[in-house]
Amino acid sequence: MPTLLDGVKISAQIKSEVKAEVARLATQGIRPGLAAVLVGEVAASKIYVSNKVKTCAELGLYSELITPSASVTTEEMLDVIRALNDRDDIDGILIQLPLPKHVDTKALLDAVSADKDVDGFHPINAGRIQAGRPALAPCTPAGIIEILKRSDIPIAGAHAVVVGRSDIVGKPAAMLLLHEHATVTICHSKTRDLASVTRQADILVAAIGRAGFITPEMVKPGATIIDVGINRITDRAEFEKFFLGNTKREETFAAKGATLVGDVDPHAFALSSAYTPVPGGVGPLTIAMLMANTVRAAKLRRGIA
Ligand code: GUN
Repeated sequence: MPTLLDGVKISAQIKSEVKAEVARLATQGIRPGLAAVLVGEVAASKIYVSNKVKTCAELGLYSELITPSASVTTEEMLDVIRALNDRDDIDGILIQLPLPKHVDTKALLDAVSADKDVDGFHPINAGRIQAGRPALAPCTPAGIIEILKRSDIPIAGAHAVVVGRSDIVGKPAAMLLLHEHATVTICHSKTRDLASVTRQADILVAAIGRAGFITPEMVKPGATIIDVGINRITDRAEFEKFFLGNTKREETFAAKGATLVGDVDPHAFALSSAYTPVPGGVGPLTIAMLMANTVRAAKLRRGIA
């Protein structure tokens, strides 16, 4: 039986460590602060941001929610970001994505001070990571490393195959795995004979954004599978392809008309030695690592990290 890598549990561990560190910093008069910028009325973004703000409160961090309207201009957003860069009580700045189409997302992400870039999206942080310097790493890739380490899954010497080459997940995940001494292969939509590559993986990271894309034939028996995808499925036929006979999922689907599936076909998990479920795997780590990054940013900025 494969081991289920419980992201909720690991995330709770990390949050309790962050909480203890926040309490320790409080004795030195330091309170790490996060500013979250939420533009417009995107329902999913509102939920994500409210969870981030709520978690700050739980762990004792200061947080501030800034909510420009959907009609905000790039220039106005740049003013908001510059003001946050200059504030001493703000250690982390998070601009919730996606932004409205008329706003220049890259210009805004580049305007965030690299030292306050708790999402790890700034090119300077990408460069620092590449160069092996102290950096704020993107939360999801950092969370993947935490899951592996805290579950005693050896990374050094393992062949890690990352499917997906996004700037936010695939590329940084590959780099962090390399720093942990894995042999790393990055695959993408143009990779020839993808299955022959993924079948070599001791650690298979799926970050493609397509429901159930990794099928059992693509997995080496005994591999560790890290499923980064979160795909909402509403189609009955698609549901049955992945979850037929799964009573719990049947109940969810019947009640909500939808359920979540990762980038890995759940049938592939049976072949693995360990895997992250969807939901409840990598997802919960993202907020925990955001909190950890905010505390880290507070310490780095004060020269005490
Ligand atoms: N939108 C979806 N995920 C994320 C994230 O991790 N950070 C930000 N800033 N926006 C997102």
